[in-house]
Amino acid sequence: MQKINGEIKDEVPQKIILKTELPGPNARKIIGDDEKFLATTTKSLPAVAKRAKGVFVEDVDDNVFIDFAAGISVNNMGHIHPYITKKVEEQLWKLWHFAGTDYYYKEQVDAGRAIEEITPGNFSKKVFFTNSGTESNEAAIKVAKINKGKQGFIAFIGGFHGRSQGALSFTASKAIQRKGLFPTMPGVEHVPFPNPYRNVFNIDGYENPEELTELTLDFIEKYTFKMYAPPENLAAIMVEPIQGEGGYIVPPQGFHKKLKKLAEDNDMLLIMDEVQSGFGRTGKYFASEHFGVVPDIISLAKAIANGIPMGATVFRADIDFPEKGLHSNTFGGNPLASVACVATIEAMKKENAVENAAKRGKHMESRLNELKDKYDAIGDVRGKGLMLAIDFVKDRKTKEPATKLRDRIELESYKEGVLLLSTGESAIRVIPPLIITDEQVDMGIEAMERAIKKSL
Ligand SMILES: Cc1ncc(COP(=O)(O)O)c(C=O)c1O
Repeated sequence: MQKINGEIKDEVPQKIILKTELPGPNARKIIGDDEKFLATTTKSLPAVAKRAKGVFVEDVDDNVFIDFAAGISVNNMGHIHPYITKKVEEQLWKLWHFAGTDYYYKEQVDAGRAIEEITPGNFSKKVFFTNSGTESNEAAIKVAKINKGKQGFIAFIGGFHGRSQGALSFTASKAIQRKGLFPTMPGVEHVPFPNPYRNVFNIDGYENPEELTELTLDFIEKYTFKMYAPPENLAAIMVEPIQGEGGYIVPPQGFHKKLKKLAEDNDMLLIMDEVQSGFGRTGKYFASEHFGVVPDIISLAKAIANGIPMGATVFRADIDFPEKGLHSNTFGGNPLASVACVATIEAMKKENAVENAAKRGKHMESRLNELKDKYDAIGDVRGKGLMLAIDFVKDRKTKEPATKLRDRIELESYKEGVLLLSTGESAIRVIPPLIITDEQVDMGIEAMERAIKKSL
């Protein structure tokens, strides 16, 4: 049962139902009003949600879609998860807000403990709660600057870390994100990311992963450190273990371990931005675990409270801010968000969501590879667990991105009842809630295939 305006309704049907042309009349009206009142952002599809349950979203015209986007990897435990919803509802009648950075309440401590326990590293950690991934990275930047007493950073081409003027200085996945916004925070030097499929070194990184790793690290040591950014100026390296907005790029297996060593050898911290890749998405709690690396600082957000806005910066306790007043905020660790965060982690453990992501991810990946075998326009299928993407190309040899085709397939998939979201120049991410079943995976893939056929 679900409640809408106090009225008990049957749950959203757990299948694709298409009743109207898309977008339908009610959706078109809301889209018109949205354009009138709301700022221009990154809108991708004309999908207008009314309510959702599990892996399905019902729109304002009563069409039902299977959700292969999970609100950009946020609703990892599915929509309106009964246990998480119950816990948040109970908290609604107890305490909404109490400025948790200035005063105290148990809910925030419980959330800090729960995060401390699941994040990598057998050492004491401290958690600073934020309201978004961007804010988590802002805190990470400050922790690194204060701890190292240095102001510079290394970041990666293709990386995405947020859009505030500090975080934006690290973001480099699309030029539009920075257009007209110069200058951002100075001192962030970008280097190539070891993208096995398309890289600046023009090698096949799937065939030669070690060479790709070496070329990337050599670039940092021989050019970045020697020619324009001496390590004496650099506080930290910020990196996504798997690039998200850059196109779901998985670096070679050995890369992150060597990167961490490079950081240590040069008195720098390693910040891993797990905002998109964290919380079970890749079939492990954190993507860094796939690479056997424990970062000094981890940035989190998105799935941490299954949709209640929340983020966290998690760091070694010994690099905590040395004085009161250096950093704080108002809403971070808000009681509702804290309760949602603890309930999300409890639900993930109880329902083996991380293992499910690994298993369903294997099934999803093999179904996507079947599509690749059938359609030459798919150049690459990549990812880990349920953090997967398919890349569309004009030509498999040249790997020239087929951006328009990709966009058409995203739209046609919506018209076939699958919600998707593009990433990078020519890829579509496939990131359903982690609680999905194999049958639901198949349902979505079949609809996607119909969309691909229509779009070619
Ligand atoms: C890896 C990564 N870091 C940071 C962010 C920014 O998070 P937010 O939009 O919550 O500020 C994102 C958002 O997509 C992200 O994918």
